[in-house]
Amino acid sequence: MSDPIEFHDRALSLGLARVAEQAALASAKLIGRGDEKAADQAAVNAMRTQLNMLDIAGVVVIGEGERDEAPMLFIGEEVGSGKGPAVDIALDPLEGTTLTAKDMPNALTVIALGPRGSMLHAPDVYMEKLAVGPGLPENVVSLDMEPAQRVRALAAAKNCSEEDITVCVLERPRHDTMIAELRTTSCAIRLITDGDVAGVIHCAESETTGIDMYMGLGGAPEGVLAAAALKCMGGQMWGRLIFRNDDERGRAAKAGITDLNRIYSRDEMVTQDVIFAATGVTDGSILAGIKREIGFMTTETILMRSKTGSVRRMTYRIPTN
Ligand code: FBP
Repeated sequence: MSDPIEFHDRALSLGLARVAEQAALASAKLIGRGDEKAADQAAVNAMRTQLNMLDIAGVVVIGEGERDEAPMLFIGEEVGSGKGPAVDIALDPLEGTTLTAKDMPNALTVIALGPRGSMLHAPDVYMEKLAVGPGLPENVVSLDMEPAQRVRALAAAKNCSEEDITVCVLERPRHDTMIAELRTTSCAIRLITDGDVAGVIHCAESETTGIDMYMGLGGAPEGVLAAAALKCMGGQMWGRLIFRNDDERGRAAKAGITDLNRIYSRDEMVTQDVIFAATGVTDGSILAGIKREIGFMTTETILMRSKTGSVRRMTYRIPTN
């Protein structure tokens, strides 16, 4: 039997950036048009076409849903030419469908790629997430701490006061208690309406974004994507899957998850080196959105490799006719 083809992350990275760029360009016409589904579908179609041009034997492990729920980029779908290395792919063709439909900040196209078996097959359930940026003591905060305790621990580690800490939280009724507990400290809370992949990534660039910590419940698939990003940028993250009913527990069983209470660290969600690419759809704190001028469109993409810790930002300008 021949040796498996090696995963050359460097060679594949530009191809991955193209996948993210094309998905963003495809959704551009749908920014601010009030149609989440159409925007998502355009991004999905473009992402799939571009992925199939790559010389990889890819399997979607984090995708648009299960085979019976998603016509394309479903979990388990094989993508790529089949000629290259065996890889796992985590993707969200449009992270922030509502943000795109309403032309609100921080909508992104997101994709991560790693060797086969490198990513947690997270079912489509919620995940309780906690993330901080790089350069902090290991396990400076934890999911087992109360929200206010996390703020105090982070302020102590950063040698600053609680009021210098900003926590990013998805604005949802399920977070009311957590927000009330956070308000017992003097921290600031940045509430976002959607897009917790960007929310987590913000922690890795706190000088630019002003966000020190992310916490709360969001999609588990988005959790794995965020873990892939932080593995490249540095920073710590933890996630615990949340199951609300038997159907969701069934999804876990299907994904091979037996310990339903397990807390996953960043490196348990993404166990080997990965590449990560995201392109801005609408303007945000980490990436500019798509710019449209007469005859041209321009995108900004962040492309990162965990092996080297390299973070590359690229703009791409293309004629529209
Ligand atoms: P979509 O782009 O699929 O709409 O997801 C947006 C998002 O805000 C994610 O970033 C987040 O993880 C999830 O939805 C939160 O789910 P919910 O809207 O159910 O609170």
